[in-house]
Amino acid sequence: MNYRHAFHAGNFADLVKHATLTLLLDALTADAAPLTVVDTHAGAGGYDLDGELARRTGEAAQGVFRLMAADDAPAPFDRLKAAVRRGNPGGGVRFYPGSPSLIAAGLRKGDRYVACELRDDDVALLRQTLAPFPGARAEQTDGFAMAGREAGKGGRVFILIDPPFERSDDYARIAATLAAVMLLDPDACVAVWLPLKDLETFDSFLRSIEPACADLLVVEARLKPLTDPMKMNGCAMVIANAPPGLEPDLSAAAGWVVARLGETGGKAEVWRTGA
Ligand SMILES: C[S@@+](CC[C@H](N)C(=O)[O-])C[C@H]1O[C@@H](n2cnc3c(N)ncnc32)[C@H](O)[C@@H]1O
Repeated sequence: MNYRHAFHAGNFADLVKHATLTLLLDALTADAAPLTVVDTHAGAGGYDLDGELARRTGEAAQGVFRLMAADDAPAPFDRLKAAVRRGNPGGGVRFYPGSPSLIAAGLRKGDRYVACELRDDDVALLRQTLAPFPGARAEQTDGFAMAGREAGKGGRVFILIDPPFERSDDYARIAATLAAVMLLDPDACVAVWLPLKDLETFDSFLRSIEPACADLLVVEARLKPLTDPMKMNGCAMVIANAPPGLEPDLSAAAGWVVARLGETGGKAEVWRTGA
């Protein structure tokens, strides 16, 4: 496992993923039902954008730095922006929250959060990030397997699947995990982050998961036309059992990312399978 999210923290793909995540968390905690969240690939929890790894790629320059400087970012980014401000009480944008910080901050009494990470270094950081949150725990374990263990225990379940896609079987493992979760809990909300390289790969992934879940909400942020399959030309979130009514906010968030950070020929789209 070579992937470290610190190289990519706060880039355009994180903005799409984390805006979507905060919108889903708000909707899933809108009533009093307790929520269990499983973050199958949690990473370190939060990132120092001034650190060596982040500075080596500079990806945040075309991501969170632009977001925080913009005066036209739409309201669906408000939660993410507030989290960035909380993490940087002295001002500026040095620290960027990963999915664990965003999820843990939204936990209510009675909610549970299981964050899975395999790497020794990142799980140590993850444990520090989650230490202040009694409802949250970090596990050094395979997140795909954990999703299957937590689904079906009862109560409302939300699973975030955000693999590094450095293994050729990541797509197949996502599909198998989604199918297993849907059998155990057909109402579970499952959000998957995906790179958009070429349409064939994305379409065949969607076809592979449709039998397990007929209700899929897809958020696509293509920063440029998908003409070079060797590049990450954009990203997508695919959400099973998304709470209703999120489409306008998701469109606004993805639309802003494409319009402000994309190139000519980029496109943002939010659609449901079968619609
Ligand atoms: C894209 S990063 C996660 C970023 C994080 N979700 C966020 O938004 O802040 C993927 C992480 O998954 C970890 N990882 C890879 N395979 C895993 C597995 N099978 N189970 C748990 N973690 C895994 C990697 O070490 C890496 O830190």
